[in-house]
This record gives sequence, C-alpha cells and structure tokens, in this order.
Amino acid sequence: MARKKISLIGGGQIGGVLAQLCALRELGDVVLFDIVEGLPQGKMLDIAEVGPVDRYDVCLKGTNSYEDIKGSDVVIVTAGLPRKPGMSRDDLIEVNSKIMSSVAEGIKQYAPDSIVIVISNPLDAMVTLCQKITGFPFSRVIGQAGVLDSARFATFIAWELGVSVKDVVAMTLGGHGDDMVPLVRYASVNGIPVMELLEQKYGAEKAKEVMEAMVKRTRGAGGEVVALLKTGSAFYSPASSAIAMAESILKDQKRVLPTCCMLQGEFGVSGYYVGVPAVLGEKGVEKIIQFKLDAEEQAMMDKSVAAVKGLVDSMK
Ligand code: APR
Repeated sequence: MARKKISLIGGGQIGGVLAQLCALRELGDVVLFDIVEGLPQGKMLDIAEVGPVDRYDVCLKGTNSYEDIKGSDVVIVTAGLPRKPGMSRDDLIEVNSKIMSSVAEGIKQYAPDSIVIVISNPLDAMVTLCQKITGFPFSRVIGQAGVLDSARFATFIAWELGVSVKDVVAMTLGGHGDDMVPLVRYASVNGIPVMELLEQKYGAEKAKEVMEAMVKRTRGAGGEVVALLKTGSAFYSPASSAIAMAESILKDQKRVLPTCCMLQGEFGVSGYYVGVPAVLGEKGVEKIIQFKLDAEEQAMMDKSVAAVKGLVDSMK
C-alpha cells in the first residue's frame, strides 16, 4: 500500500497537536504549513526528534510553501485566528474568511485530489467558503465540529453518572454554535438511555433539570475553555476529533461520525453545511445517515440551521 500523506494548513496550537497525533499513530507522512517562517519547521523538527522515543517512523516536514502539499490524501485546515474571552465563534468571520480564501486557493492548486477537513471557525461558514473556492465535490470538503461537541456531551454525562467515558454514546447535530443540538433521546450508557439512569438517580423532574444543564454546558463548552485559557481556544480536543475523521478516511474505516456536511434535502435542509452523522471512508463523505427527529429535536435543528444560514448568507 502506498504511503499516505497528510497536510496540515496552520501550524499553531491545533496544528502542532495534529502533527504529533499523525506521527504517534503513523497515519502517514505529514506536512505542516504556516505563513510564519520557522514555526512549522521548528515544530516538525521537535516532533521528528522524538521518533526514537515514541517509536514512530514517518516523514515530517515543516514548510512555508504550498508546493509541499502536493499529493496529499487528506488536508486539515486550522489556519485562522482563535477566539479571545467574550468572543463568539461568529466574531471571527471577517478575519478568518480572508485567511480561508488564500488557504483554499493553495489547496485547489496543489492538492486537487485531497479530502479537506476544516477546523477553522466559524466552522460552518469556513467549510462553505473552502468548498466554494476549491470547487471540490461536497463529499471531499467537510468540517470537524460534531465529533468534539459530541465528546464534550458524553464527557459531562459520564461525570454526572459516575461511569466510564468509554461507555457513553452521545451525539450532537446542527451548527457549531450556541444553538447546536445535543440529542438527549439517543444518549446512552452502552445502549441504556441516559434519561432513564438520571431518573433513577434523581426522579423525573430533577433528571430533566440535570440534563438541561448538561446540554447548556455542551453548547458553551468551547467558550468555557476559552475563558480559562484567556489566550486562545481549545486545541487538544479539536485535534483529536479531526484525527478520528482523518483516520476513518485514510483507512477507509467507514465510521459513522457527526460531520459538517453539505445537505441536499436531508433533515429538511438544502444547500447548507450542517452537522449530521456521516459515513467517512476513502471517498470522504460516502453517505449521510438520516433518521427521524421528533418535533422538539426538529425545532432545535431548525433553529440551529437558521443561525448557520444567517452567518453563511452574511458572507455573500
Ligand atoms: N495561511 C496559513 N496559516 C495561517 C494563515 C494563512 N493565511 N494565517 C494565519 N495562519 C496561521 C497562524 O500563523 C497560526 O500559526 O494559523 C495558525 C493558527 O494557530 P493558533 O492561532 O494557535 O490557533 P488554533 O488554536 O490552532 O486554532 C485555529 O481553529 O478551532 C479553530 O477557532 C479556532 O479559528 C481557530 C483555528
């Protein structure tokens, strides 16, 4: 099998962790691109020099030249400013649109056959812009948000119930904003509904309140990290989440992961990028998984989609 190649555009906080995770898992050869001279070269040298300790053997290259991303199978984009305390993701739209425009041009020219995973915020708008500029098929331009939002929801559930995070299954849909849709009805501990377990613990009324608090915390979880860090936003968790998506693509695992995908009628949405469960394999998005939402869930989805539309339409 030919060696895989992963290019990372943006060598900041998330970019560095992405590079290290690619190496640790030997996903393929890795190129880290940034406009700042020395930054990607320094990070890749640092990561390469610990190969003998961590026992990975992949080629790691830092660069300021788009030419080096030639032949990439997967490109992950984190170029762009992160939030400061008090900012919403949407506040980044102007500055990050400019950055995304130049990045997408670079990818279009030098990695025309790649599958692109966008992490830069505001996510739903940045994926839309990236697809528009590259002109790649929708199946090859996707966004990371749902894997992380779902992991945050699952983490809070595990802590609340005092069970292992490994046994909690939870998913969020919709946009990567304050109106995202954590799916309470499908949250489970190895298949046992979380609401049933909360009701056993607290009784029906309090259980609802506890779940509402977890939903609220999930929606604001990115901001919670920003407020603590003060100088940037979450980086370990978005990196790991995008790596799960990249790995499913590179190894054709066909995992079902919540992914920011272009919808064409699914969940009643057409022509917008929104988070939904998708099968990720060697072709990118191979299938969007649809299922019935109840009235309350659909109303939340509609609200979240309306927020995405407002943001995306503001770029036009
Ligand atoms: N091309 C390539 N890289 C760029 C460009 C550009 N035009 N402009 C800026 N960058 C680089 C910066 O030099 C920096 O190294 O993008 C990197 C961003 O890194 P950080 O500031 O550390 O931000 P990070 O925490 O990695 O987050 C990146 O992901 O989750 C989102 O909201 C977050 O939009 C932010 C992005």
